[in-house]
Amino acid sequence: MTWPFRVGFGEDAHRLEAGRRLVLGGVEIGHAELGAVAHSDGDAVLHVVADALLSGLALGDIGAYFPDTAEQWRGMESRVIVERALALVQERGWVPVNVAVVVTLDRPKLGPLRAEIARSVAALLSLPEGDVGVSFKTSEGLAPLHVQTRATVLLARVDAAPGVGGE
Ligand code: C5P
Ligand code: MG
Repeated sequence: MTWPFRVGFGEDAHRLEAGRRLVLGGVEIGHAELGAVAHSDGDAVLHVVADALLSGLALGDIGAYFPDTAEQWRGMESRVIVERALALVQERGWVPVNVAVVVTLDRPKLGPLRAEIARSVAALLSLPEGDVGVSFKTSEGLAPLHVQTRATVLLARVDAAPGVGGE
């Protein structure tokens, strides 16, 4: 028997520098003094969500689909990466059930943006806001020029969804 569930996991990090944008989960962090050094918009939350989706079905990682050397992806919005990863999962008959994201960043405090980030990620995945958990941690000063992100996602086979298949 093959279980109708899979867990995916993703991890990402970006260097922080003055004069760059900081975008997390599709939300612009306007009060950040430092932003992400990246080929795309550097959205380290959307990158891990996409990697978690892909890893759940062993579909590789986002670098396989969006090489960071390719000129065409320069400065692109990371929502495109999540949309592509979600499409790859859905084409195979799977959907995300819930997502948990951890952001490790010393400054600024992100707590006040938790709901906005959760809503933004949830909307991209067509999930209710309550199915996207977002946690924030500092590095306790060990990595002040660094944003680190991690995410897990539970995937379910569509034909195992409640109400499908004659339950
Ligand atoms: O890393 P530490 O456990 O000291 O973080 C304490 C709390 O600060 C976290 O639980 C989180 O709610 C909040 N935090 C935040 N924004 C950050 C880092 C931490 O709101 N960038
Ligand atoms: Mg990244």
